[in-house]
Amino acid sequence: MAPRPIIIDCDPGHDDAVALLLAFASPGELDVLGITVVAGNVPLDHTEANARRICELAGRADVGVYAGCAAPLERPLVTAEEVHGETGLEGSGLGQPAMALADGHAVDFIVETLLAAPDGVVTLAPTGPLTNVAAAMIREPRILPKIGEIVLMGGSIGLGNVTPAAEFNIYVDPHAADAVFASGAAITMLGLDVTHKALITKERLAAIGALGTPVGDAVAGMLEVYNRHHAERYGRVGGPLHDPCVIAYLLRPELFSGRRVHVKVETRSELTMGRTVVDWLSVTGEAANATVIDDIDADGFYALLTERLAQL
Ligand code: RIB
Ligand code: CA
Repeated sequence: MAPRPIIIDCDPGHDDAVALLLAFASPGELDVLGITVVAGNVPLDHTEANARRICELAGRADVGVYAGCAAPLERPLVTAEEVHGETGLEGSGLGQPAMALADGHAVDFIVETLLAAPDGVVTLAPTGPLTNVAAAMIREPRILPKIGEIVLMGGSIGLGNVTPAAEFNIYVDPHAADAVFASGAAITMLGLDVTHKALITKERLAAIGALGTPVGDAVAGMLEVYNRHHAERYGRVGGPLHDPCVIAYLLRPELFSGRRVHVKVETRSELTMGRTVVDWLSVTGEAANATVIDDIDADGFYALLTERLAQL
């Protein structure tokens, strides 16, 4: 079967970086048409440079990296340097990228790539705030039937991680997320409920560090920094590896489970701004608009990730 064409929209950040590497390590299954970058974990000038660094690390300087929106649709940008470091890739050991940024805006790349493709073929894999994706839908509604599926990291059935109510990607741009969930596109949401079951324990981190390759060393360096934050902030035995769950779902959906439910995003109350209101028990009678994933075979996920990273 031909590799699945995907566009990864991201805000690297440590976990986005690992998601990109997992995608690049799976060329038989995923055809990365391009990488579109958004402000999120760190400002856009860092996220786009980090995406280029990771392309080079993976030997994929041929893939276009397109800078997108530097701020959310309506709200001021919120970033997370305390998690990922000032540059967003603290611990990676990677220097300045040599590959150039692709010409053109990320939103234009998403629109033009989708319009040029047959209906329902291209998958969007957002792992950051949904600003670029929503801006593309708003700018050119004709892309909607072109989107095969949107498999995104964001939201939660339960607690948030940036406020008690909201997960970071949705909180940063709730208006964009509201537009995407209301768009009618086929959405699979991997939120905190599942990603918090995919913790980078010491043993899992050691297995990646033991690869003894530039990729293994860079990932281990990043995840050591990432884990230190989660240990100090939450007392956790390891950080949740959020974004690679999106790519692993594309590769091995059988490692995951969830259900079709209705999801709506809070965009008015400051107290619960950015909350994904997930009708898990179908009490509203609203038609389902997303498959929300709440469980993972974590050992299977880390075995896949480590085995694939070893191939880069
Ligand atoms: O809440 C976790 C998400 O926010 C991840 O995608 C992380 O990279 C940040 O973007
Ligand atoms: Ca991210």
